[in-house]
Amino acid sequence: MAKCAFIGLGIMGYPMAGHLAAKGHEVTAYNRTSAKAEQWAKQHGGRAAPTPREAAKGAEFVFLCVGNDDDIRSVAYGDDGALAGLGNGCVLVDHTTASADIARELEADAKKQGKQFVDAPVSGGQAGAENGVLTIMCGGEPAAFERARPVMEAYGRAVTLMGPAGAGQLTKMVNQLCIAGLVQGLAEGINFGQRAGLDMEKVIAVISKGAAQSWQMDNRASTMVQGKFDFGFPVVWMRKDLKICMEEANRNGALLPTTALIDQYYHQVVKAGGSRWDTSSLIHNLRLLD
Ligand SMILES: NC(=O)c1ccc[n+]([C@@H]2O[C@H](COP(=O)([O-])OP(=O)(O)OC[C@H]3O[C@@H](n4cnc5c(N)ncnc54)[C@H](OP(=O)(O)O)[C@@H]3O)[C@@H](O)[C@H]2O)c1
Repeated sequence: MAKCAFIGLGIMGYPMAGHLAAKGHEVTAYNRTSAKAEQWAKQHGGRAAPTPREAAKGAEFVFLCVGNDDDIRSVAYGDDGALAGLGNGCVLVDHTTASADIARELEADAKKQGKQFVDAPVSGGQAGAENGVLTIMCGGEPAAFERARPVMEAYGRAVTLMGPAGAGQLTKMVNQLCIAGLVQGLAEGINFGQRAGLDMEKVIAVISKGAAQSWQMDNRASTMVQGKFDFGFPVVWMRKDLKICMEEANRNGALLPTTALIDQYYHQVVKAGGSRWDTSSLIHNLRLLD
């Protein structure tokens, strides 16, 4: 069993850290809003630390799961940051969905101190985190990955090394690009079917057995039909992810015409008050046209 620090107890981090404790790892948690860390420690029998540095002290593995690049910087750097507390032989693992640049930066700074780094964004949502069945896409050196892999398996069902630092984030970008256009297609299909007067539950049951099947259809079609969006992966996170993808595409020359359009559609959802709605709320735009 390992000594672990977990920094960022949000929708994803809270249950992920819980799985580490449930597997018998010794976990010290840090959260910006300290009440959440205290509640976590009470619930899972770990410890709460007042700063990322204090949490990281003495840990063999330090996990981050915050919002974006700027949030990573505020928990990793500075006098109270996690990097200042990393002990010898420690592996820093970042589960935040962020840029490939910050992954390379964190690896370089960890290496300067003789420490290891893995970027490890996740897919599978809140349910995946709660059930401990996340897909984890990793970047880093094989030795760092092989040390962290068995610990990440506390909440990861598929934990894969994709290449050097940044490759996990780049893989997550591909993941988000593959989802964005598909959700709009699903929204257009459902909206069309409803306007055509079809029994959409029946339509979904039939077409999900054929070539139109997708995770989004299996997990989101019914709630899209019902217009329910107060759960799931928030639009604000998706827009953050699409921005990262478009910035990366500016560098590597990939064309993302549909992604740019979908980002505008999500902007419309935000304007309708849906920044925390699930990403399947794209269908809301189509209903606004009535
Ligand atoms: N939610 C999903 O379904 C999902 C799925 C896959 C990937 N992800 C990715 O996983 C990451 C975490 O998502 P989440 O849904 O868990 O987010 P969340 O519920 O909003 O939690 C964010 C966490 O980061 C902390 N944080 C944010 N800014 C900070 C700062 N400047 N300094 C220190 N701590 C800060 C928050 O602390 P406070 O409690 O103090 O606010 C909170 O613990 C994101 O990168 C997201 O894109 C999310």
